[in-house]
Amino acid sequence: MAIDMTSFATPLTRLLGCRYPVISAGMGGPARAGLAAAVSHAGGFGLLGMVRESPELISREIAAVRAATDQPFGVNLIPSATDSSLLAAELDVCLAARVPAICFFWDVVPDVVARAKDAGVLVLYQVGSLEGALAAEQAGADVVIAQGIEAGGHVRGRTGILTLLPEIVRHVRIPVVASGGFATGAGLVAALALGAAGIHCGTLFLATHESFAHDYHKQRILAAQAGDTVYTDLFAINWPPHSPVRVLANSVTGKAGNNLFGHHPDRLPRDGFCCNKVVGYDVGDKMKD
Ligand SMILES: Cc1cc2nc3c(=O)[nH]c(=O)nc-3n(C[C@H](O)[C@H](O)[C@H](O)COP(=O)(O)O)c2cc1C
Repeated sequence: MAIDMTSFATPLTRLLGCRYPVISAGMGGPARAGLAAAVSHAGGFGLLGMVRESPELISREIAAVRAATDQPFGVNLIPSATDSSLLAAELDVCLAARVPAICFFWDVVPDVVARAKDAGVLVLYQVGSLEGALAAEQAGADVVIAQGIEAGGHVRGRTGILTLLPEIVRHVRIPVVASGGFATGAGLVAALALGAAGIHCGTLFLATHESFAHDYHKQRILAAQAGDTVYTDLFAINWPPHSPVRVLANSVTGKAGNNLFGHHPDRLPRDGFCCNKVVGYDVGDKMKD
């Protein structure tokens, strides 16, 4: 039987105005305009990862998305990991640009939700617990993203998504989106079966041509097996204490050995590097999978 795949409507797609219930995570660094625009253009909902970015850069990235697509998109900000004056300036620029949506992460901060809602912006909130989901709904969020412990990047979830998702779905009235380990159409169907209105994917989109991730990062993602990630609080600089992260095993985790937890953000070493080149696959191919 032929299935019409020109759209896949759920309460999430109706609210966000996209064709497919697939959100690309606002990954700070990799999720720049190229990725967010490609995902929105392909029918998903692209998020710009703008944590701790300057208002000038955020403004440029928003304009670049708009130059590339007329489809709706959003901006990701992280109140708990951003100095309050910078956060206020980041919000100012998003609201002045009238972005369709803002996706917040980590602790629920009612004031930032209120500011966005007062300006007529849709609010998505990624949380890691039922308590967080209830707080997000109470604060006025339009969508809650439930993040399981499987997730890549910083991980707020403490339990697997298969148990967290139905628990949150049972207790909130707003659409719930599943996050953590979703990368295929089968995963989307599983999330919908558990009551989700869509999925939120980070790692899936990291290795695309459109992602701003480093070439080496993309190669490592493409070569990785299911058991290759490490869960640790070694990468907590600029985050509250006890902010774990899931990363691919690397020289830092290797050097730490079994000493993966108990690192205070203020006492971690601050040397590192950053640059970008591109390899991988196209967003369009992944939206078809
Ligand atoms: C490289 C990377 C960077 C991330 N950066 C952010 C971020 O800046 N803001 C945010 O809300 N989530 C961030 N996340 C977490 C995602 O929002 C999401 O929870 C996660 O990617 C879901 O799991 P998945 O990677 O298995 O799809 C990041 C994830 C990755 C992999």
